[in-house]
Amino acid sequence: MIPLVDPFQRAISYLRVSVTDRCDFRCVYCMSENMTFLPKKELLTLEELDRMCSTFIRLGVEKLRITGGEPLVRRDIMTFFRSMTRHLEAGTFKELTLTTNGSQLERFAGDLYEAGVRRVNISLDTLDEQKFADITRWGRLPQVLKGIDAAQNAGLRVKINTVALKGFNEDELFTLTEWCHDRDMDLTFIEVMPMGDIGNEDRLGQYWKLSDLRDELRKKYTLTDLPERTGGPARYVRVEETGQKIGFITPLTHNFCESCNRVRLTCTGELFMCLGQEDNADLRSALRNHPNSDAPLEQAIRDAIAMKPKGHDFDYSRQTVDGRVSRHMSHTGG
Ligand code: GTP
Ligand code: 5AD
Ligand code: SF4
Repeated sequence: MIPLVDPFQRAISYLRVSVTDRCDFRCVYCMSENMTFLPKKELLTLEELDRMCSTFIRLGVEKLRITGGEPLVRRDIMTFFRSMTRHLEAGTFKELTLTTNGSQLERFAGDLYEAGVRRVNISLDTLDEQKFADITRWGRLPQVLKGIDAAQNAGLRVKINTVALKGFNEDELFTLTEWCHDRDMDLTFIEVMPMGDIGNEDRLGQYWKLSDLRDELRKKYTLTDLPERTGGPARYVRVEETGQKIGFITPLTHNFCESCNRVRLTCTGELFMCLGQEDNADLRSALRNHPNSDAPLEQAIRDAIAMKPKGHDFDYSRQTVDGRVSRHMSHTGG
């Protein structure tokens, strides 16, 4: 089998799959309060998702990250997770994981572990109940904290994703850092990206440069850059005083696209070759029009990878929001 390699010689071994555009939260930087969601017939069925992912795995994908919206609000989603277990058992496929807001983990953590999931990324921007309710509009902090407990109790390794927001969680930098350390969870900060119309937009006002956040951390800790790369956008430091590892995802101040190893499948079967670009390929027709042969789908995937762009164009440096993309983060799952 010829592996998937894009025009810039990047091997594609990582597929992110958004299984629903719906979410039980309405985070202010992600969605507007009134979102229109896709009609059900547009969605790939669970069987189609299986066929799609299995094809990517056959073509060399080693890691699947299930996202949304909120992946765990998709009806019967555990059936899909369980159907992926067979690939883990077969060997070449290495990791099945997800990114979640944590709201449903109390219910699903044990089942996820049983399906072969070992790590989860959980989004959490504040430890203050009122602020949590404000930023997620519909979310409630205690429910997520119970979800995090359940995940750890089930044996899942947890990484917390925190979007760095000026005037919002600046004052919690150390509280969040120490909380993650005390609970033995990894922590990654993310710069807010200009994606989707979110109503009353003030991206520049929210934008907290992670180089500034790092300077802030340095006031209390000694940070050492770590060389490790996961093929992902995060860059890591070690806090010498505690040994804690902290990640930074800085699409706006540092371009990590040269080592990109991933593509993104939406819940309707479009493949986005880059989070920061509009180019996409329709894989759903190749799948639906050929129920008995995966060859056309394989070809459609190869053709799409051959169009993977060099990188994103997000840019705030001219004091305007440049390079923005119109779709919401929930469309491609981050
Ligand atoms: P790994 O799978 O371990 O690399 O984790 P991850 O940090 O990529 O996954 P996660 O779902 O936690 O992603 C965190 C956020 O990083 C995403 O929601 C995006 O906001 C951002 N991100 C991830 N991949 C990319 C990328 O390729 N480009 C850009 N611009 N941002 C990305
Ligand atoms: N910029 C940066 N991160 C975002 N997320 C959602 N919308 C944005 C945005 N506009 C984050 C969530 C979650 C991950 C999936 O994406 O907080 O951690
Ligand atoms: Fe839902 Fe995640 Fe978007 Fe928040 S950031 S609304 S939890 S998809």
